[in-house]
Amino acid sequence: MHSIKKYLALSLLILSLPNFAQEKGNENEVSVERPLNEPFRPQFHFTPAANWMNDPNGMVYYEGEYHLFYQHHPQSNIWGPMHWGHAISTDMIHWEHQPIALFPDKHGTIFSGSTVADIHNTSGLGTAETPPLVAIFTYHDVKAEKEGKLDFQTQGIAYSTDRGRTWSKYEGNPVLKNPGIRDFRDPKVSWYGDKEGNGKWIMTLAVKDKISFYSSPNLIDWQHESDFNPAWGAYGGVWECPDLFELPTSDGGSKWVLLVSINPGAPNGGSGTQYFVGDFNGKDFNADGDQVKWLDYGADNYAGVTWSNISQSDGRRLFIGWMSNWTYANTVPTEAWRSATTLPRSLELITHEGDNILASRPVEELGKLRISSETMEGNDLSLPDELAEIELGISEENFELVLSNSHGNRIIIGKNEKGIYLDRGQSGLTEFNEEFKAPHKAPDLGLQYKKLKLFIDRSSIEVFFNDGELVMSEVVFPNSPYTRLETQGFENAVTVHRLKSIW
Ligand code: FRU
Repeated sequence: MHSIKKYLALSLLILSLPNFAQEKGNENEVSVERPLNEPFRPQFHFTPAANWMNDPNGMVYYEGEYHLFYQHHPQSNIWGPMHWGHAISTDMIHWEHQPIALFPDKHGTIFSGSTVADIHNTSGLGTAETPPLVAIFTYHDVKAEKEGKLDFQTQGIAYSTDRGRTWSKYEGNPVLKNPGIRDFRDPKVSWYGDKEGNGKWIMTLAVKDKISFYSSPNLIDWQHESDFNPAWGAYGGVWECPDLFELPTSDGGSKWVLLVSINPGAPNGGSGTQYFVGDFNGKDFNADGDQVKWLDYGADNYAGVTWSNISQSDGRRLFIGWMSNWTYANTVPTEAWRSATTLPRSLELITHEGDNILASRPVEELGKLRISSETMEGNDLSLPDELAEIELGISEENFELVLSNSHGNRIIIGKNEKGIYLDRGQSGLTEFNEEFKAPHKAPDLGLQYKKLKLFIDRSSIEVFFNDGELVMSEVVFPNSPYTRLETQGFENAVTVHRLKSIW
């Protein structure tokens, strides 16, 4: 493990250039040394080396590498003209920062989207021998927006034939024009068909307060198929960053899951991700039931989507979210960078009382972070390290744990007759936003609570009940590491894994 990380500082020379002039900026990148070790810098979550990040984008697994692109403002630690930052990993845990993949151009800045491996070269943008990776993203035309036009968001594509190292924009962009709707964005594309290449591409697009499905034979020509916006969905804010995928069910069948991020309108305020379970036939999505379900009941898991092109032998549906919330994302107390991704999770459907619940399991690769594991006994423990994975057995119907430090900062997590709660009101720095202190709640979902797992990084805590049947992801900014764990309603033996930094 090294504390100094070499990375590409993309901002230094770009600073002097106008925002939109930079179509190919790689020649301007400067290599510098800097430790990713500032106060609050997450040590086992992905963060941009410098400056602003929001949504994860373009996640594709290709030739042994997990690609993570992300909404990035390379010149500032607050949101601005969006680029696609890029990082590569072989295990979803350790990341190598890469040069910026997509720069704004004459069609606009580069909003969220997805990447597919076009294995059969349906787009013609590669060759049969060297099929392309194709990124499908939203162009946001700031000038058109300022002029009061409505059609300023369109979909464009870019391709790479060198394993994602360099990207070229398609000359015929945009490939999907806007019919006159302000919010028309975040294409998530997947292959609906067989491995031999019989089938079509499906684009799942967020269109104001509905999801629109489009299809294409070649990623270039798109045709509208249907819309989805059931009366009972959550509509507290605009719909964003959808994802659509099929998962096995416990009865040996399968169901389709549609993720829809929404901001504001989440159960604990601001940004959150609802999901629908149902059926998709290549044209229409139909949801089961009439209850809104949430992927994560914490305040900080937004705009998350899943990796495409994961091998069949792996078979997991692997997810990462943006660990922040638009309510305070621009004002959290970090300077050098802003925000992190969640830990990677495997999404699985579990059947509970006839209903399908989407569980988020921490991926097994996280085991690589462990330095040492010990079983501690008691209900008032001194934690050995600031970076920890803690496993507890729940022994009573109602339970509570308090994580605290010598500064009197504390996080309280528990369950009572009303459901699950998490209180970060005194967790450390909270004054940067007045809503940050608010207590958070989750319904108990009728589950039997047996286990609780915590991942504690320098500025976040992720709580997995029953291996992810209910999850709460939260950012926190303690004055010093949480070193004490008091529990009530838990088994006496607590497993504490010390974790190492990925940087
Ligand atoms: C979600 C979002 C997307 C958009 C992007 C812009 O957080 O608003 O809808 O594409 O961020 O950065």
